[in-house]
Amino acid sequence: MKEIVVFSSGAGSNAEKIISYFKKVSDVCISVVYTNNPAAGVLKKAKNHGVKTRVFSAQEYQKEVLKELLSINPAIIVLAGFLWKIPKNYIDNFPNKIINIHPSLLPKYGGNGMYGNNVFKEVFKNKEELTGITIHYIDEKFDTGPIIFQAQVKLLPNDDVTEIANKTRQLEHKFFSAQIHKLIR
Ligand code: GRF
Repeated sequence: MKEIVVFSSGAGSNAEKIISYFKKVSDVCISVVYTNNPAAGVLKKAKNHGVKTRVFSAQEYQKEVLKELLSINPAIIVLAGFLWKIPKNYIDNFPNKIINIHPSLLPKYGGNGMYGNNVFKEVFKNKEELTGITIHYIDEKFDTGPIIFQAQVKLLPNDDVTEIANKTRQLEHKFFSAQIHKLIR
C-alpha cells in the first residue's frame, strides 16, 4: 500500500478532493492529514471521510513531525494550501517527494505573501487574459521549485476576483489528484 500524507492550513477543498479520489484507488491511501491550524476546515473534512488528522505546533514542526513522516515513509507528501515554509531537513529527507499546488501560472504571482485571494487580486489588477495552476516540487524558497504540471484557463474582461478564484479552484480540483496519482505510479 502506497501512502500519501497531506498538509493543509485551511478549508481543505483540495485535500477533500484528493481523499475522495484515492478512496477509489485500491493500492493507495491517505495516511494522515497534517495541519498547523486547529481551526482549519480541513480537519472536519478529513474526519468525515475517516482520515486520521494531526494538528501540530511550531515546536513539533521542528523535529517531531519529521520523525513521524520518516516512520510513515509516504510515497508522496502533498501540500494543499499549507502556509508554512518547509524546513530544509524535510526536503533533504524526502527529495522529489514533496509537492505543492499554487493557484497561478508560476513564476507569475508566486513568492512570499502570494497565497489565497492575494494571488487573485493581483491577477485581476493586472488584467490578465489567462491564469491557471502550477503543481511543483518544493525547494527552500516559496513557489520556486521545479514545475511538474500547469493548466491554464482564459479570463474574460468582466471576471472579478471571485470568478478568477472559482475558475482557478476548478482547475485545481480537476487536475491535482490525477497528477499525484501519476507521480506515485
Ligand atoms: C489553493 O488555492 C491552493 O492552490 C493554495 O491554497 C489553496 C487551498 O485551498 N496553495 P483549499 O484549502 O484546498 O480549499
